[in-house]
Amino acid sequence: MKFDAPITIALSKGRIFKQSLPLLAHAGIVPADDPETSRKLILDTNHEQVKLVIIRATDVPTYVEYGAADIGIAGKDVLLEHGGEGLYEPVDLKIARCRMMTAGYPDATQKTGRLTVATKYVKSAQRFFAAKGEQVEIIKLYGSMELAPIVGLADLIVDLVESGNTLKANGLVPLEHICDISSRLVINKASWKMKHGLITQLIDAFREAVHQHSH
Ligand code: PRP
Repeated sequence: MKFDAPITIALSKGRIFKQSLPLLAHAGIVPADDPETSRKLILDTNHEQVKLVIIRATDVPTYVEYGAADIGIAGKDVLLEHGGEGLYEPVDLKIARCRMMTAGYPDATQKTGRLTVATKYVKSAQRFFAAKGEQVEIIKLYGSMELAPIVGLADLIVDLVESGNTLKANGLVPLEHICDISSRLVINKASWKMKHGLITQLIDAFREAVHQHSH
């Protein structure tokens, strides 16, 4: 691919970065540094015009919405909470796959009265329980949700489950499936218009890579 305009791609380090590498490579983009060992927040790539900004997963939609990055790679969990304003979401990259679930002790829902639910996914939790017509009290947390039922802070949690090992290690069980989660390519709406040719080529390259990697 020929990069005839500057492109900034926002993504988080860890699982999303690692699993994005083959997809970026398919688009001809190879980072010059490894964010796990480098403290740099802006990574150069093999293309002078292409930069990667390494930020917290929850900040990716914000950077892309405001045009601080043209493109981002973000989990559907994060996009559901952000609301997706100002973003196009053209490709399911099918990486960092897991499930959003309710979890707790096996008998968590036996309780009479209103259940309390601890989560960092407040909007998703509200939507899920509202759709079931259940009134719950939601407590916002920023991490380690598994602790909440153990210390009596909440009856249930809404969290991501991949192998289920974290729940198991804390004596909890997955209860209800809310939705499947994977990372998505998101595009700033102005960049989409201004750099249409280049962005279209990038989207096509990512689509092709997803197709190859999932077959
Ligand atoms: C996620 C999630 C669970 C864990 C589930 O956390 O919040 O704690 O993974 O994975 P498992 O079912 O395979 O045990 P993550 O490791 O992404 O870190 P975070 O809590 O900082 O989001």
